[in-house]
Amino acid sequence: MAVIAGNWKMHRGPAETRAFFEALRIEGVPEQHELLVFPPVISLVAAAGARPARVRLGVQNIHWEDEGAFTGEVSASMALEVGAEFALIGHSERRHVFGETDEQVAWKAGTAVRHGLVPVVCLGETLAERRAGRVDEVILRQLDAVLPELAVASRSMIAYEPVWAIGTGEHATPRDASSAHATLRRRLAEALGAGPAGRVPLLYGGSVKPTNAGELLAAEEVDGVLVGGASLDPAEFVAIASAAS
Ligand code: PGA
Repeated sequence: MAVIAGNWKMHRGPAETRAFFEALRIEGVPEQHELLVFPPVISLVAAAGARPARVRLGVQNIHWEDEGAFTGEVSASMALEVGAEFALIGHSERRHVFGETDEQVAWKAGTAVRHGLVPVVCLGETLAERRAGRVDEVILRQLDAVLPELAVASRSMIAYEPVWAIGTGEHATPRDASSAHATLRRRLAEALGAGPAGRVPLLYGGSVKPTNAGELLAAEEVDGVLVGGASLDPAEFVAIASAAS
C-alpha cells in the first residue's frame, strides 16, 4: 500500500479543479493505494463535488487558533466543513517563504489532531544543511517539535521533502530518501513505540515525476510520495500512482 498525495500549491481555481477531476482516470490504479489531493482552499468545495470517492482531500495550511482576528487565514473546522480530511502542516514553502517556525508547526499539528484532521507534517533540510552534513540533526529537530502531537493522533503522516529538491527537477536518490526515512523511523519507534503509533507513513517529496516515482516508491522505508508540479496533470498523477507496487 502506498500513499500518493498531490499538493497543488497556488494552482487550479474551482473551474480548473472540476476539469482536473473530469479528466482523472484512476480505474487502473490498484485499490490498495491511497490517493490524496490538496487543492487551494478556494477550490475545496469544487473538489469535494467533483472528486471520485477514492480520492480524499486535504487543506494545504490551517491556522493554529480555532477562530479569531486572523485576516486571510483558515481554521481547521472550516477546512473540515468543506471536505478536507487531511492537512499539510509545515510545508517547506510555509517554513521558508512565510517564516513558519517549528513551534508554530507544532501548534498547527496539535490543532489538526484536536479537530480530527490527519496531519501530514512536512520537514526536510536545505542544501546548505545537507552540504554541512546536518541532515539528521535538522530533520530530527523538526520531528521532535511535533512528536507530542503525533503521540496523541489517531492517524498522521510525515513527508520528508528536502528543500533543495522541491520544484527544482532534482530529486533525492532512493538511497538518500531511505536514509532520511530510516532516521525518522528510528526516532518515531523510540518515541511512540514500534506498534501502529510508531508506524507513521513516511512520504518522500521533491521533484517526484512519473519517470522517477517507481524507484522512489520502491525504496526502503518510503511509504508514499507527496507530489507538487506533476500532480497538476491528471495523467501524470495517475502515472505516478500506477508506479507504486
Ligand atoms: P514538487 O513539489 O514535486 O513540485 O517538487 C513537492 C512539494 O512541494 O510538495
